[in-house]
Amino acid sequence: MFEGHDTTASGISWLFYCMSLHPEHQQRCREEIQGILGDRDTIEWEDLGKMTYTTMCIKESLRLFPPVPGVSRELSKPVTFPDGRSLPKSLVLLRSHQTLTRWSLLLPQVFDPLRFSPEKSAQRHSHAFLPFSAGSRNCIGQQFAMNELKVALALTLQRFELYPDPSKLPIMIPQIVLRSSNGIHLHLKKVI
Ligand code: HEM
Repeated sequence: MFEGHDTTASGISWLFYCMSLHPEHQQRCREEIQGILGDRDTIEWEDLGKMTYTTMCIKESLRLFPPVPGVSRELSKPVTFPDGRSLPKSLVLLRSHQTLTRWSLLLPQVFDPLRFSPEKSAQRHSHAFLPFSAGSRNCIGQQFAMNELKVALALTLQRFELYPDPSKLPIMIPQIVLRSSNGIHLHLKKVI
């Protein structure tokens, strides 16, 4: 339930919140989706690969609001780094998934989907962005999750404009899944 449902529920909620805060990106996604779907109100498998800008926005939302805020690992053997420093066996490490450092240093709190343009992504190490973790125990549902996020966003933006509720801004609480202690409240206006 946690891995298959709570994660995507969190991801979709924070993604909608990001879209509500950034009407310019929201509109660009809507135009992309309208261009792909036309008059259709259902999504075909082939549509998912065409949502380039929408995917960039989803990744930027996962960077700022990672549904799984971190993972822990216990070292089965000591690790020695190239500079000579080392970590002992049995140490438990916690890795945060909120990527606000290194490549995102330029105004890291700013929602900027262009960080995930193909050119920028190619310049980074594949492990610089790890919302689904990496290695042998990474997320087996990540493709499914990305598709679910795309479908949810596409069918919602096709029908509604999203606006934040300034009187009830979410308060992030990183638990096993990232939540808001007061919910995520948005206003919806029907797209005419
Ligand atoms: C946005 C949505 C999701 C995010 C951010 C996410 C993230 C993660 C992360 C970070 C891990 C590694 C946990 C660890 O190493 O301690 C993980 C593992 C896992 N995820 Fe996801 N996940 C998502 C959606 C899903 C979905 C939809 C499914 C199933 C349909 C799923 C199934 C799993 C499973 C089974 C594991 C355990 C894999 C293993 O231990 O070998 N996840 N996920």
